[in-house]
Amino acid sequence: MNSQICFEEFLYGGDYNPEQWLDSPQILEKDIEYMKEASVNVVSIGIFSWALLEPEEGNYQFGWLEQIIGRLCENGIRVFLATPSGARPHWLAEKYPEVLRVDEKGHRNHFGFRHNHCFTSPVYREKTSMINRRLAEKFKDHEGVILWHISNEYGGACYCPLCQDAFRKYLKREYGTIENLNRKWYTTFWGHIYDSFEQIEAPSPDGEFTVHALTLNWKRFVTEQTMEFAASEIRAIRAGGSNKPVTTNFMYNFNDLDYKKFGKIFDIVSWDNYPSWHKGHDYEKALDIGLQHDFMRCIKRKPYLLMESCPTATSWQGVSKLKRPGMLKLESMQAVAHGADSVQYFQIRQCRGGFEKFHGALIDHYGGNDTRVFQEAAGIGDDLKKISEVCGANVISEAAVIYDRENIWAMEDAQGPRNENLHYMECLLKSYGGLRRQKINVDVINMEDPLEDYKVVAAPMNYMFRGGFEEKIRAFVEQGGIFIATYWSGIVDEDDRCFLNGTPYGLMDVLGLRSMELDVLYDGEKNRLVPARDSDGEGAFACEYSCENFCDIIKVSTAQPLFVYGEDFYKGYPAVTVNRYGKGKAFYIAADADAAFYRDFYDEIMRQSGMMPLVRGSVPDGVEVTSRQKNGAEYIFIQNYNPGNVEIETDVYCGILNGYETIMRKRTK
Ligand code: GLA
Ligand code: ZN
Repeated sequence: MNSQICFEEFLYGGDYNPEQWLDSPQILEKDIEYMKEASVNVVSIGIFSWALLEPEEGNYQFGWLEQIIGRLCENGIRVFLATPSGARPHWLAEKYPEVLRVDEKGHRNHFGFRHNHCFTSPVYREKTSMINRRLAEKFKDHEGVILWHISNEYGGACYCPLCQDAFRKYLKREYGTIENLNRKWYTTFWGHIYDSFEQIEAPSPDGEFTVHALTLNWKRFVTEQTMEFAASEIRAIRAGGSNKPVTTNFMYNFNDLDYKKFGKIFDIVSWDNYPSWHKGHDYEKALDIGLQHDFMRCIKRKPYLLMESCPTATSWQGVSKLKRPGMLKLESMQAVAHGADSVQYFQIRQCRGGFEKFHGALIDHYGGNDTRVFQEAAGIGDDLKKISEVCGANVISEAAVIYDRENIWAMEDAQGPRNENLHYMECLLKSYGGLRRQKINVDVINMEDPLEDYKVVAAPMNYMFRGGFEEKIRAFVEQGGIFIATYWSGIVDEDDRCFLNGTPYGLMDVLGLRSMELDVLYDGEKNRLVPARDSDGEGAFACEYSCENFCDIIKVSTAQPLFVYGEDFYKGYPAVTVNRYGKGKAFYIAADADAAFYRDFYDEIMRQSGMMPLVRGSVPDGVEVTSRQKNGAEYIFIQNYNPGNVEIETDVYCGILNGYETIMRKRTK
């Protein structure tokens, strides 16, 4: 199924665990009453219900589920039906210990926790496929079931002999011969040359962890293996006769898997969002979360679902602070503004016992609807109904930032100039935030995505160039695009071998420079960025800024310096440059510049790119502007992350925006 999935209204609800309350029918009835009161129209069920759905091998007990789905459906509440592979029953682990995950030191886990099974195990695949197929056969035609929630938050890796074997097969497929693998992995270093594929083991703290290409390929393999497992789950649903769409819920900035690849097998993307608000400046947090929303949206470049969020405080964060009044609504509307077609919570009713008994919920242990949280959530349900025409609208962006999981894996594993903290996310957010502050939408893409639709592309700390990325950038700039690169870019190829003959690889002419040496500073040390005297009208930069962490010393060929360093032995060397290439321009930010620099820099990029802001006029600090488009209409969301009122004076809205308030305005083209 590849066409866009359309829901006629926003989906509102959350994870619901009726199996925990089967002995309290009055509670289940009350839940339905409350859900209707809060405008809940969808719940995810069955996520961790395997032990109840198949209490002993082959004995499937779906009666309770059918009854509950029926009751929900009668009351206008639809269902995302989960496959239960996220947590297995005791009997399965007892009878087939191979399903238990083995850790990187070779120790097989005991039964416990969740999300800890072997993705390769034929038994685990068979048992999940069997129950999935039965569920599909049973519920395929049920009008209440509208989507399959496949497993839950896939993640982690297994190092058992079955997985090790599958890894070796993967490497044989990728590299063909051991000689080719040795050459590409540069195993002559320390004489770690493999004589055969059979010698290869997954990276381990008490084995091989110093071959970066091994670690990189292991991570690629884990993504592929997890996807294969997920695909086997989906095949079973299809074999059971259901054509309903499938999703799985992703996580925030999750490093174990390259989510981007999963777009191929799932019909719609969904994710679980748990920001820690009220810790520092909420607008900075909003940018951080906005980037994740945009990343999720760009996996398929289509609307997605917010599968989970917390109505109030979680129970797993170091400090689980309550959301201040208004914040839940603001956070929910942020998802909608960025392209989500649902707002869902973990969870509808708070569990009475178990690991998550203090996790926030729509209905808490007290059990009433007269709570602050319930009332606020009910208001959100109402608001979503009022804006239902926005559902299904797309986000269109003219600017993009590159956020590529393989780049992150390689950069973080490398022993390099700065092992203590690369400050990668901060660097990425400076560009993403710099662009978003211009009141434009921004796509968050990876190196494989096409660039034709963009006027501006920023690729901060793009250490690895893979798949001909440099050629894509060259064509993009040649055709008139504005490209922004930083220090630590174009250093290694996709096998993590350093490029020879100068970096940023393949772009030295496009950028008009070569990186000579990369200096790094101790924490607390700073250098200065001083406007270059002869900047030839390229930039209206007049102020000084500071920089820290990384200072790349570059040699320019055709690039024009916009800033030079103010200190140290490279004082006077170019620190920010621009180069005209073809019809476009390529900027290079050689140092980890401060936030003030990035603001002014992107003001200038905005001017030079000809991009139009979503709203004209003045929008104060801490206010996010985002838009979605559908059938010739544009829906503009203006959101205030300040706790206090601000004044907005724009072409789409003039007036006061209260603390944590969102307004949406429609503009017809
Ligand atoms: C995740 C899981 C849920 C629950 C929540 C708690 O997102 O998918 O099952 O544990 O976290 O925040
Ligand atoms: Zn395994």
